[in-house]
Amino acid sequence: MRRKKLIVANWKMHPGSMAEARSLFGKTKRAGSRLEKVETVICPPFAYLGAFAHGGTSRVFLGAQDVFYSNSGRATGEVSPEMLRDLGVTHVIVGHSERRALGETNELVARKAVAVLAEGMQAIVCIGEKERDEGGAFYETLKVQLKESLQGIARRFFIDLIIAYEPLWAIGKSAKEASTPKDVQEMSIFIRKVLTDLYGKEAAQQPSVLYGGAVEEENAGAILSSGGVQGLLVGHKSLDAEAFARILKSANAV
Ligand code: 13P
Repeated sequence: MRRKKLIVANWKMHPGSMAEARSLFGKTKRAGSRLEKVETVICPPFAYLGAFAHGGTSRVFLGAQDVFYSNSGRATGEVSPEMLRDLGVTHVIVGHSERRALGETNELVARKAVAVLAEGMQAIVCIGEKERDEGGAFYETLKVQLKESLQGIARRFFIDLIIAYEPLWAIGKSAKEASTPKDVQEMSIFIRKVLTDLYGKEAAQQPSVLYGGAVEEENAGAILSSGGVQGLLVGHKSLDAEAFARILKSANAV
């Protein structure tokens, strides 16, 4: 497992202009570059990725929000793993719930993750339940998501595999409505247990686990220090350079 905290900025479909993207990238890169104990990953929309090609440092990395599952074939509108790697992209989010909502299946997510890892990049595979039922059926949902979304990934790639747990009910909300550090800890233990059942104890220790969903300055430090996760996936607060810099700082202090 990684020693440094991994903090991923998922800009989603923002900001609306290249000028704003440049400004946000510059500020975030400066903030992340100062921190010894944090790896910052910035995931801009595809339209801006080229402008930041090879723009990372030893502490700040370029990520993508999605990818196609192959380097070849007729695939209008898609972007291949090889193209991303060529731009200096090192991390790729796959299976974000907002992509799953558009029809992406576990099977497709698994194919994308396999393709990303084969290209030598790190795959951030997202899972998360829509809602929590009292009977605990969401545990089974998560188990199936994990099993099927990791299908075909060889254990030797696990070191580059990152599981992001993002409960849908928390995404886009405020810190008050996020998972509590205690809940996050319970889910990180659950994820490790499912991985252990599927792949054995040794392999199951390798992937990093991140939490995402309403991460703000108020809860970032507590989730990192007592949630049992190795990092965070941050949405709306990654668009506020000052707030995101404070999240990075609190991660560095854990
Ligand atoms: P918010 O941080 O806006 O809740 O988004 C979480 C997310 O979806 C990151 O991938």
